[in-house]
Amino acid sequence: MQRDVIIACDFSSAEECYKFLDKFQNLKRKPFLKIGMELFYAAGPDIVKELKRKGFKIFLDLKLHDIPNTVKKAMKVLSNLDVDMVNVHASGTIEMMKAAKEGLTREDGTRPLLIAVTQLTSTSQEAMTKQLLIDNPIDETIAHYAKNAMEAGLDGVVCSPLEASKVKQYCGPDFLTVTPGIRFADSAADDQVRITDPAKARELGSDFIVVGRPITAATEPVAAYQRCVEEFCEKEDFLYNPSNFI
Ligand code: C5P
Repeated sequence: MQRDVIIACDFSSAEECYKFLDKFQNLKRKPFLKIGMELFYAAGPDIVKELKRKGFKIFLDLKLHDIPNTVKKAMKVLSNLDVDMVNVHASGTIEMMKAAKEGLTREDGTRPLLIAVTQLTSTSQEAMTKQLLIDNPIDETIAHYAKNAMEAGLDGVVCSPLEASKVKQYCGPDFLTVTPGIRFADSAADDQVRITDPAKARELGSDFIVVGRPITAATEPVAAYQRCVEEFCEKEDFLYNPSNFI
Protein backbone atom coordinates (compact mmCIF):
# COMPACT_ATOMS: atom_id res chain seq x y z
CA MET A 1 0.00 0.00 0.00
CA GLN A 2 1.44 3.32 -1.04
CA ARG A 3 0.94 6.47 0.95
CA ASP A 4 -1.50 9.02 -0.38
CA VAL A 5 -2.82 12.47 0.38
CA ILE A 6 -6.63 12.73 0.58
CA ILE A 7 -8.19 16.17 0.08
CA ALA A 8 -11.21 16.75 2.36
CA CYS A 9 -13.80 18.37 0.07
CA ASP A 10 -15.78 20.03 2.84
CA PHE A 11 -18.06 22.12 0.62
CA SER A 12 -21.78 22.80 0.94
CA SER A 13 -22.69 22.39 -2.72
CA ALA A 14 -21.65 20.50 -5.83
CA GLU A 15 -20.94 23.80 -7.64
CA GLU A 16 -18.48 24.91 -4.98
CA CYS A 17 -16.74 21.55 -5.12
CA TYR A 18 -16.48 21.46 -8.94
CA LYS A 19 -15.16 25.06 -8.97
CA PHE A 20 -12.44 24.04 -6.53
CA LEU A 21 -11.56 20.88 -8.47
CA ASP A 22 -11.29 22.79 -11.77
CA LYS A 23 -7.96 24.05 -10.47
CA PHE A 24 -6.65 20.47 -10.48
CA GLN A 25 -7.64 19.59 -14.02
CA ASN A 26 -4.13 19.81 -15.44
CA LEU A 27 -2.73 17.21 -13.07
CA LYS A 28 -2.02 13.93 -14.82
CA ARG A 29 -3.05 11.97 -11.76
CA LYS A 30 -6.33 13.02 -10.14
CA PRO A 31 -6.11 13.48 -6.36
CA PHE A 32 -7.84 11.17 -3.86
CA LEU A 33 -10.85 13.06 -2.45
CA LYS A 34 -12.85 12.74 0.74
CA ILE A 35 -16.58 13.45 0.56
CA GLY A 36 -18.09 13.87 3.99
CA MET A 37 -21.60 14.31 5.32
CA GLU A 38 -21.91 18.01 4.39
CA LEU A 39 -21.30 17.55 0.67
CA PHE A 40 -23.02 14.15 0.45
CA TYR A 41 -26.18 15.41 2.14
CA ALA A 42 -26.16 18.50 -0.11
CA ALA A 43 -25.30 16.88 -3.44
CA GLY A 44 -26.22 13.20 -2.96
CA PRO A 45 -24.91 10.13 -4.77
CA ASP A 46 -24.75 12.08 -8.07
CA ILE A 47 -21.63 13.94 -7.05
CA VAL A 48 -19.91 10.67 -6.16
CA LYS A 49 -20.82 9.17 -9.54
CA GLU A 50 -19.69 12.29 -11.39
CA LEU A 51 -16.34 12.52 -9.60
CA LYS A 52 -15.71 8.80 -10.18
CA ARG A 53 -16.53 9.34 -13.85
CA LYS A 54 -13.96 12.13 -13.95
CA GLY A 55 -11.35 9.72 -12.54
CA PHE A 56 -11.05 10.78 -8.90
CA LYS A 57 -10.65 8.21 -6.12
CA ILE A 58 -13.26 8.73 -3.42
CA PHE A 59 -13.22 8.17 0.33
CA LEU A 60 -16.89 8.43 1.33
CA ASP A 61 -16.70 9.53 4.95
CA LEU A 62 -20.22 8.87 6.27
CA LYS A 63 -19.16 7.13 9.51
CA LEU A 64 -21.99 4.59 9.64
CA HIS A 65 -23.23 3.51 13.09
CA ASP A 66 -26.50 1.58 13.42
CA ILE A 67 -27.74 -1.97 14.00
CA PRO A 68 -25.74 -4.54 11.97
CA ASN A 69 -28.52 -5.30 9.47
CA THR A 70 -29.09 -1.63 8.62
CA VAL A 71 -25.37 -0.99 8.21
CA LYS A 72 -25.00 -4.07 6.01
CA LYS A 73 -27.76 -2.91 3.66
CA ALA A 74 -26.50 0.67 3.56
CA MET A 75 -23.00 -0.56 2.74
CA LYS A 76 -24.35 -2.58 -0.18
CA VAL A 77 -25.72 0.65 -1.66
CA LEU A 78 -22.44 2.51 -1.10
CA SER A 79 -20.49 -0.34 -2.66
CA ASN A 80 -22.57 0.02 -5.82
CA LEU A 81 -21.41 3.64 -6.00
CA ASP A 82 -17.94 2.23 -6.69
CA VAL A 83 -16.22 4.34 -4.03
CA ASP A 84 -12.67 3.47 -2.97
CA MET A 85 -12.94 3.81 0.81
CA VAL A 86 -15.79 3.99 3.33
CA ASN A 87 -16.02 3.97 7.10
CA VAL A 88 -18.02 3.02 10.20
CA HIS A 89 -17.74 3.81 13.90
CA ALA A 90 -15.80 1.10 15.73
CA SER A 91 -18.04 1.70 18.77
CA GLY A 92 -20.86 0.03 16.78
CA THR A 93 -19.29 -3.32 17.85
CA ILE A 94 -17.41 -6.10 16.06
CA GLU A 95 -20.73 -7.59 14.84
CA MET A 96 -21.67 -4.31 13.19
CA MET A 97 -18.25 -3.98 11.53
CA LYS A 98 -18.48 -7.57 10.22
CA ALA A 99 -21.94 -6.81 8.82
CA ALA A 100 -20.56 -3.66 7.15
CA LYS A 101 -17.87 -5.71 5.43
CA GLU A 102 -20.38 -8.31 4.28
CA GLY A 103 -22.66 -5.66 2.81
CA LEU A 104 -19.76 -3.97 1.09
CA THR A 105 -18.36 -7.08 -0.58
CA ARG A 106 -19.54 -7.38 -4.19
CA GLU A 107 -20.49 -10.65 -5.88
CA ASP A 108 -17.06 -10.86 -7.51
CA GLY A 109 -15.39 -10.60 -4.07
CA THR A 110 -14.09 -7.03 -4.57
CA ARG A 111 -14.96 -4.18 -2.24
CA PRO A 112 -13.86 -0.68 -1.25
CA LEU A 113 -11.41 -0.30 1.65
CA LEU A 114 -13.30 -0.33 4.95
CA ILE A 115 -11.95 1.57 7.92
CA ALA A 116 -13.25 2.36 11.39
CA VAL A 117 -13.36 5.61 13.31
CA THR A 118 -11.90 4.88 16.76
CA GLN A 119 -12.54 7.89 18.98
CA LEU A 120 -13.18 11.19 17.22
CA THR A 121 -10.24 13.55 17.57
CA SER A 122 -12.71 16.07 19.01
CA THR A 123 -13.40 13.77 21.99
CA SER A 124 -11.31 14.66 25.04
CA GLN A 125 -10.22 12.32 27.80
CA GLU A 126 -12.56 14.23 30.14
CA ALA A 127 -15.61 13.79 27.88
CA MET A 128 -14.81 10.10 27.47
CA THR A 129 -14.60 9.56 31.22
CA LYS A 130 -17.46 11.77 32.36
CA GLN A 131 -19.95 11.42 29.52
CA LEU A 132 -19.19 8.03 27.98
CA LEU A 133 -18.07 6.41 31.26
CA ILE A 134 -14.92 5.01 29.64
CA ASP A 135 -12.23 5.06 32.31
CA ASN A 136 -9.26 3.83 30.27
CA PRO A 137 -6.70 6.27 28.83
CA ILE A 138 -7.78 7.54 25.41
CA ASP A 139 -4.81 6.04 23.52
CA GLU A 140 -5.51 2.60 25.01
CA THR A 141 -9.17 2.87 24.05
CA ILE A 142 -8.19 3.81 20.51
CA ALA A 143 -5.74 0.90 20.21
CA HIS A 144 -8.39 -1.47 21.61
CA TYR A 145 -11.01 -0.25 19.12
CA ALA A 146 -8.42 -0.71 16.37
CA LYS A 147 -7.92 -4.33 17.48
CA ASN A 148 -11.68 -4.86 17.35
CA ALA A 149 -11.71 -3.45 13.81
CA MET A 150 -8.91 -5.81 12.83
CA GLU A 151 -10.77 -8.76 14.36
CA ALA A 152 -13.83 -7.81 12.29
CA GLY A 153 -11.67 -7.98 9.17
CA LEU A 154 -11.48 -4.25 8.46
CA ASP A 155 -8.54 -2.68 6.66
CA GLY A 156 -7.63 0.04 9.12
CA VAL A 157 -8.75 2.95 11.24
CA VAL A 158 -9.11 6.72 11.24
CA CYS A 159 -7.05 8.18 14.07
CA SER A 160 -4.82 11.11 14.90
CA PRO A 161 -1.26 10.77 13.53
CA LEU A 162 -0.17 10.84 17.18
CA GLU A 163 -1.90 7.47 17.68
CA ALA A 164 -0.77 5.88 14.42
CA SER A 165 2.33 4.20 15.84
CA LYS A 166 0.39 2.69 18.74
CA VAL A 167 -2.18 1.32 16.30
CA LYS A 168 0.59 -0.19 14.15
CA GLN A 169 2.16 -1.66 17.29
CA TYR A 170 -1.13 -3.38 18.25
CA CYS A 171 -2.38 -4.31 14.79
CA GLY A 172 0.73 -4.71 12.64
CA PRO A 173 2.33 -2.63 9.87
CA ASP A 174 -0.25 -3.53 7.18
CA PHE A 175 -3.24 -2.27 9.15
CA LEU A 176 -4.00 1.13 7.61
CA THR A 177 -4.00 4.41 9.48
CA VAL A 178 -5.92 7.29 7.92
CA THR A 179 -5.11 10.50 9.74
CA PRO A 180 -6.71 13.96 9.73
CA GLY A 181 -5.37 16.81 11.89
CA ILE A 182 -2.65 17.79 9.41
CA ARG A 183 -1.18 21.30 9.25
CA PHE A 184 1.96 22.68 7.63
CA ALA A 185 4.58 23.58 10.19
CA ASP A 186 4.14 27.28 9.30
CA SER A 187 0.31 27.48 9.10
CA ALA A 188 -2.69 28.03 11.44
CA ALA A 189 -4.16 25.15 13.48
CA ASP A 190 -7.80 26.35 12.99
CA ASP A 191 -10.01 24.27 15.32
CA GLN A 192 -7.77 21.19 15.23
CA VAL A 193 -5.97 20.49 18.50
CA ARG A 194 -3.73 17.46 18.10
CA ILE A 195 -1.97 18.32 14.85
CA THR A 196 1.17 17.28 12.99
CA ASP A 197 2.73 18.29 9.69
CA PRO A 198 2.78 15.86 6.72
CA ALA A 199 6.40 14.75 7.21
CA LYS A 200 5.84 14.01 10.89
CA ALA A 201 2.64 12.08 10.03
CA ARG A 202 4.74 9.89 7.71
CA GLU A 203 7.33 9.34 10.43
CA LEU A 204 4.58 8.33 12.87
CA GLY A 205 3.21 5.70 10.49
CA SER A 206 0.26 7.31 8.67
CA ASP A 207 -0.71 5.62 5.41
CA PHE A 208 -3.15 8.31 4.29
CA ILE A 209 -3.32 11.91 5.47
CA VAL A 210 -6.64 13.72 5.19
CA VAL A 211 -6.07 17.41 4.54
CA GLY A 212 -8.86 19.98 4.30
CA ARG A 213 -8.37 23.69 4.91
CA PRO A 214 -4.58 23.79 4.39
CA ILE A 215 -5.44 22.94 0.76
CA THR A 216 -9.05 24.12 0.24
CA ALA A 217 -8.47 27.55 1.84
CA ALA A 218 -4.99 28.10 0.38
CA THR A 219 -4.43 30.89 -2.14
CA GLU A 220 -2.79 28.28 -4.38
CA PRO A 221 -4.59 24.98 -3.62
CA VAL A 222 -2.68 22.94 -6.20
CA ALA A 223 0.68 24.12 -4.84
CA ALA A 224 -0.51 23.35 -1.30
CA TYR A 225 -1.57 19.84 -2.41
CA GLN A 226 1.79 19.28 -4.08
CA ARG A 227 3.58 20.46 -0.96
CA CYS A 228 1.61 17.87 1.07
CA VAL A 229 2.63 15.17 -1.39
CA GLU A 230 6.28 16.19 -1.32
CA GLU A 231 6.39 16.29 2.48
CA PHE A 232 4.34 13.12 3.05
CA CYS A 233 5.37 10.73 0.31
CA GLU A 234 8.76 9.11 0.02
CA LYS A 235 10.85 9.12 -3.11
CA GLU A 236 9.74 5.63 -4.09
CA ASP A 237 6.05 6.55 -3.75
CA PHE A 238 4.31 7.01 -7.09
CA LEU A 239 2.93 10.39 -6.11
CA TYR A 240 6.32 11.90 -5.37
CA ASN A 241 7.41 11.91 -9.00
CA PRO A 242 6.76 15.43 -10.32
CA SER A 243 6.15 14.01 -13.81
CA ASN A 244 2.94 12.50 -12.47
CA PHE A 245 1.56 15.96 -11.95
CA ILE A 246 1.94 17.66 -15.30
O1 C5P B 1 -9.78 21.28 7.37
P1 C5P B 1 -9.17 20.09 8.07
O2 C5P B 1 -7.80 19.69 7.53
O3 C5P B 1 -9.15 20.28 9.58
O4 C5P B 1 -10.14 18.88 7.72
C1 C5P B 1 -10.02 17.61 8.32
C2 C5P B 1 -11.09 16.70 7.80
O5 C5P B 1 -10.99 15.45 8.47
C3 C5P B 1 -12.50 17.21 8.04
O6 C5P B 1 -13.31 16.74 6.94
C4 C5P B 1 -12.92 16.52 9.32
O7 C5P B 1 -14.32 16.33 9.39
C5 C5P B 1 -12.20 15.19 9.19
N1 C5P B 1 -11.96 14.51 10.46
C6 C5P B 1 -11.21 15.05 11.48
N2 C5P B 1 -11.02 14.34 12.65
C7 C5P B 1 -11.55 13.11 12.79
C8 C5P B 1 -12.30 12.54 11.75
C9 C5P B 1 -12.50 13.27 10.58
O8 C5P B 1 -10.70 16.16 11.35
N3 C5P B 1 -11.31 12.42 13.89
